[in-house]
Amino acid sequence: MVDSVVHKTSMDVWTDPERLDFEGRRLCQVALSQVVSNFTYQYLPEEPRTVIEIGSGTGALDEHLHPYIPRTYLEGSPELVTIHRARLEKTGHDPEQVKAASLYELPFAGNSVDMVLGMLVLDAMFDMEGAFGEVVRVLRPDGVFVYFHDVRASTNAIAHLAQEDGYIPVPVLSEEGKITHLATLSPKEYKRFERKIIKRWGKTEGRRISEILSAAEYVDNWNEYLEHVQEFTNIVLGEMKLVGSVTPHLSDLLSSILSMLAEVNGMTVLKNEVVTATHEVDRQNVNDPQLDAEDNVIEHGPYGLGSGKVEGLLPGRVLTIANALCFAAKK
Ligand SMILES: C[S@@+](CC[C@H](N)C(=O)[O-])C[C@H]1O[C@@H](n2cnc3c(N)ncnc32)[C@H](O)[C@@H]1O
Repeated sequence: MVDSVVHKTSMDVWTDPERLDFEGRRLCQVALSQVVSNFTYQYLPEEPRTVIEIGSGTGALDEHLHPYIPRTYLEGSPELVTIHRARLEKTGHDPEQVKAASLYELPFAGNSVDMVLGMLVLDAMFDMEGAFGEVVRVLRPDGVFVYFHDVRASTNAIAHLAQEDGYIPVPVLSEEGKITHLATLSPKEYKRFERKIIKRWGKTEGRRISEILSAAEYVDNWNEYLEHVQEFTNIVLGEMKLVGSVTPHLSDLLSSILSMLAEVNGMTVLKNEVVTATHEVDRQNVNDPQLDAEDNVIEHGPYGLGSGKVEGLLPGRVLTIANALCFAAKK
């Protein structure tokens, strides 16, 4: 048994193995692997080298990195450490490569690591700056941080950064009904917004909703309050004075934040863009209700999961498209 090392970060989320098994990832796995492998191998330092992965979860990055890159995996959830170790053992790799560690205190000396890998980690943490700072600390000069984000950025770290700057983040829905934006309201704007909530739900209920809304530790649970969020969205978009506080799409915002963090930490950004790859498969290999009979395309990426139809594919074939935000920066 491994003791939990995520004390300081008990609010950090995404430790449920079921949640890490994305439909889109599975369906578009070959295409996503092309993106991830091509990108990583461009920056892989010569041997001998020290490579670590932060927040490795159940080992999803191994599914996408071919050939396999030996490394030290650092993961805070004891359950995920156990699952990942078993997986490595099964595939003939050393399970002891997985270490229980907090991403806020990486168990490596400063300037000792050639490459840090990460996928889908930073935005789920409450202290993205702290975690990024640790990556920079352990990297050697010229060491590279390679980071992937293959789903829509979560609200956690981004909302927390807004709060640190004195703003109150409010979730905003896209037309597809997903929380893809935030309104970052100043205290004065929030008062205006809260008055509308109280008008809509009454004093007691309105105050309760407002409390839930403005408590950072709930931000990743906003999805459980989608009906409310729809009304928040209507309030924000219905008020000229509030509309201007709506951020870009969270994934675009994450990309800007990564650039900003690199800059304040003195790193050089080598790449920061969404990379796409496609792969055709036989329909019989896609036993998924997500794909309607008349559709022949599945797409996965930071802007969501979708299916549709294109001309020009042979009957019985399906085009899978994977997109991932690919970020690389050098110390
Ligand atoms: C969204 S999951 C991604 C896992 C994996 N990289 C993937 O792509 O499937 C984020 C991972 O970071 C880990 N994590 C989050 N905060 C952490 C912290 N403060 N210390 C250690 N691990 C942490 C979680 O336990 C989880 O496994």
